[in-house]
Amino acid sequence: MKPDEKPNLRDQFGRTIEYLRLSVTDRCDLRCFYCIPEGFTDFQEPKNWLNFDEIELVVRAFTELGTHRVRITGGEPLVRKNLDQLAKRLASLPGLNDLSLSSNGTRLQKMATKLVDSGVSRINVSLDSLNPERYKEITKGKLSKVIDGLLAAKAAGLAPIKINTVLMKGINETEISDLIEFCMLHHFTLRFIETMPLGDTGRAATDYYFDLSQLRKKLEKEYQLIPDINTGGGPAKYWRTPDNNFSIGFITPLSQHFCETCNRVRLSVDGTLYMCLGQEHNVELRPLLRDGISLEELKIVIQDAIQLKPERHFFNENPSQLVRG
Ligand code: GTP
Ligand code: 5AD
Ligand code: SF4
Repeated sequence: MKPDEKPNLRDQFGRTIEYLRLSVTDRCDLRCFYCIPEGFTDFQEPKNWLNFDEIELVVRAFTELGTHRVRITGGEPLVRKNLDQLAKRLASLPGLNDLSLSSNGTRLQKMATKLVDSGVSRINVSLDSLNPERYKEITKGKLSKVIDGLLAAKAAGLAPIKINTVLMKGINETEISDLIEFCMLHHFTLRFIETMPLGDTGRAATDYYFDLSQLRKKLEKEYQLIPDINTGGGPAKYWRTPDNNFSIGFITPLSQHFCETCNRVRLSVDGTLYMCLGQEHNVELRPLLRDGISLEELKIVIQDAIQLKPERHFFNENPSQLVRG
């Protein structure tokens, strides 16, 4: 390999892994019914959480192997104390040029400026309803906090801001045009997501499954949408209005799965490296980190782990096989 050539993480199906989803906590201050079962208390113990030094070492190993995108996730990542300090450490790693965050928005009002100052450039925010009562029914949370958080994020200069809406039959399907108008007004990118059978709540989520392929065709006509070349680095496929003022993405893990272009793996808060959202293949890094593994050794472990990445999920063929949440 030439000195200026970037090493790639490539799996056995020829996919290049360049995107790490980093969960910094499994806790959340909301209780979306399709995500966390009511009364759930079985969270990871703090002693099992990777500390910031451990996380930085793993992310450094990934960036040295060619990963240039890192998304900080949860649970709700902003419930992890001093998250901005971790973000700052990660943002300064050479080779990392896309540091983003997925949040439920409840703490954004307080954190938006700190995140920007730490080097987070863009965020995705979950918002399943613009109606306060319905929002409360879905999440048990307060809508106004999220709206205030979104406005603070916009004012702080986070861009693009993407809204994640899990669209559910009989729950929020009546809000499609309201959500579109809201996002048009604020220049947010809107993404509709199909529910996936994940975790203990999976069965509830499949009961409300809403096929986005039909909706996309309908909206294409209504708003004269044209395919957007923006791929965004993730699984969403985008369409935009002809004036380029509004972009809408569709995340369709069930109706049109996107596994053949999957470019990511995920690190959970306890240091388990999962190869696929919908499968259990994993390697536990925490014991190795706590045994003092070196950066070079860790890179070899990661390269080997990537070979375990499965070809695809089986949400459609085997919806009753519930994967971890
Ligand atoms: P960008 O496109 O980089 O902005 O991010 P993203 O869309 O990958 O991240 P985000 O956290 O906003 O995820 C949006 C939705 O995509 C969530 O419902 C995720 O569960 C889903 N998603 C993200 N990655 C995967 C994946 O690897 N497989 C599947 N099936 N779904 C995924
Ligand atoms: N199916 C689809 N999307 C889900 N999310 C959480 N659980 C599920 C599920 N079972 C979404 C959240 C958030 C994004 C990060 O993942 O609503 O928008
Ligand atoms: Fe929290 Fe996100 Fe799960 Fe809702 S979907 S409970 S915001 S982690």
